[in-house]
Amino acid sequence: MAKFLVQKSGPLNGEVVISGAKNAVLPLMAATLLAEEKCELSDVPALRDVEVMKEILQSVGAKIKEKNSSVLEIETKEILKCEADYELVSRMRASFLVMGPLLARMGRAKVYSPGGCTIGARPIDLHLKGFEALGAKIIEADTYVEAIAPEGGLVGASIYLDFPSVGATENIMTAAVLAKGTTYIENAAEEPEIVDLAVLLNKMGAKVKGAGTDTIKIEGVERLKGAQHTVIPDRIEAGTYMLAAAITKGQILIKNIVPDHVKSITAKLRECGVTVEITDEGMYVIAEGHELVATDIKTLPYPGFPTDIQSPFMSFLTVVKGASTVIETVFENRFMHVAELNRMGANIKTEGNRAMIQGGKHLEGAQVIATDLRAGAALVLAGLAAEGTTEISEIYHIERGYEKFVEKLRALGANILRIED
Ligand code: EPZ
Repeated sequence: MAKFLVQKSGPLNGEVVISGAKNAVLPLMAATLLAEEKCELSDVPALRDVEVMKEILQSVGAKIKEKNSSVLEIETKEILKCEADYELVSRMRASFLVMGPLLARMGRAKVYSPGGCTIGARPIDLHLKGFEALGAKIIEADTYVEAIAPEGGLVGASIYLDFPSVGATENIMTAAVLAKGTTYIENAAEEPEIVDLAVLLNKMGAKVKGAGTDTIKIEGVERLKGAQHTVIPDRIEAGTYMLAAAITKGQILIKNIVPDHVKSITAKLRECGVTVEITDEGMYVIAEGHELVATDIKTLPYPGFPTDIQSPFMSFLTVVKGASTVIETVFENRFMHVAELNRMGANIKTEGNRAMIQGGKHLEGAQVIATDLRAGAALVLAGLAAEGTTEISEIYHIERGYEKFVEKLRALGANILRIED
């Protein structure tokens, strides 16, 4: 089983180029099912999750060509089946994002229920509420969910999301673009990945307005055509490297980043005494020689502080001076990394969705387990600051979402090795 061996490192120095966003490319790939013509996506990151999404698209009839390591050409002249089978969906819950496009294009979609994961139950009720509002009949069986459009096809509707769910907003957008009439999504997610999806859909001929705000208006059209699109940079990968610089008191330049997308992370790091400078070359993150202090974090839907950076930021808070509180409001069980960090000498107590951290700790390397993608990244960051060797197992979680993670960290001076044992 593969593991990471991480030793005390830093201060990290040098520059890192951010890859295309995992949480943008997955809905973008799913959306290509809406057109019979070719779509071309650039800056596609080489990730396990992208491989799974390729298999799912191919399983329903898409033809995919890799024009080079980061450019995909996807053509779905005809859709051979409207189902995403269990084996594929069970490997990645984001597979559920093919439901909207299949329902829109074929009038029917059957996807095996994605189920929960370590960070929470991750229900799909808001996705289904949206499909039903558009006129689809929903069949919820034990292991799968099926949506069937009415005879004349889906009809535009006004949909209010009880929570600004990213996935539900994306699935409803892709279901609504070919519906008859106008759809409004109220209390929609505002993440940059939603905007990126709207940009691609509009390039394909859709009429989507308001993406990035809490109200998205979609006027249905007859059909969509192929388009070319470059995936936005991964703001969560960028945030992870910002924290790698902070926790090792280093100084790095982050290239291919949209500063606006990491505004909340920048603000919180500045509160801790880290300098963040935005230049034409990219974003300088400077912690070297700085007196760093703790700050409090509360995760919220975008533009609030991102839940995906909660665990990496917590690693940083365990080592800087001062007490801090982290409140996780998006997922119900996203403190799995706390036990692992405490085994490294951190002092964190949790009560419900609150974690209280006593900072200023000297972490010690230990054998720890990655419980989800971002918790795994948090343990790598903690290992960079810990004395001795930190051995991280279950690293497949991490490799799902961080392209060339070891190479990029080593180029910054990190002592990290990937071993098979
Ligand atoms: C997306 O997940 C991201 N994944 C997650 O990133 C990210 O943490 C999350 O958005 C929040 O920003 C992808 O984009 C592939 P949600 P998603 O629907 O769409 C509740 C990572 O590490 N909810 O916004 O599944 C849900 O239970 C991953 O890259 C419902 O109640 O997130 C959760 O508490 C982790 N009913 C909250 O909304 C629903 O129908 C946020 O979920 C849907 C969601």
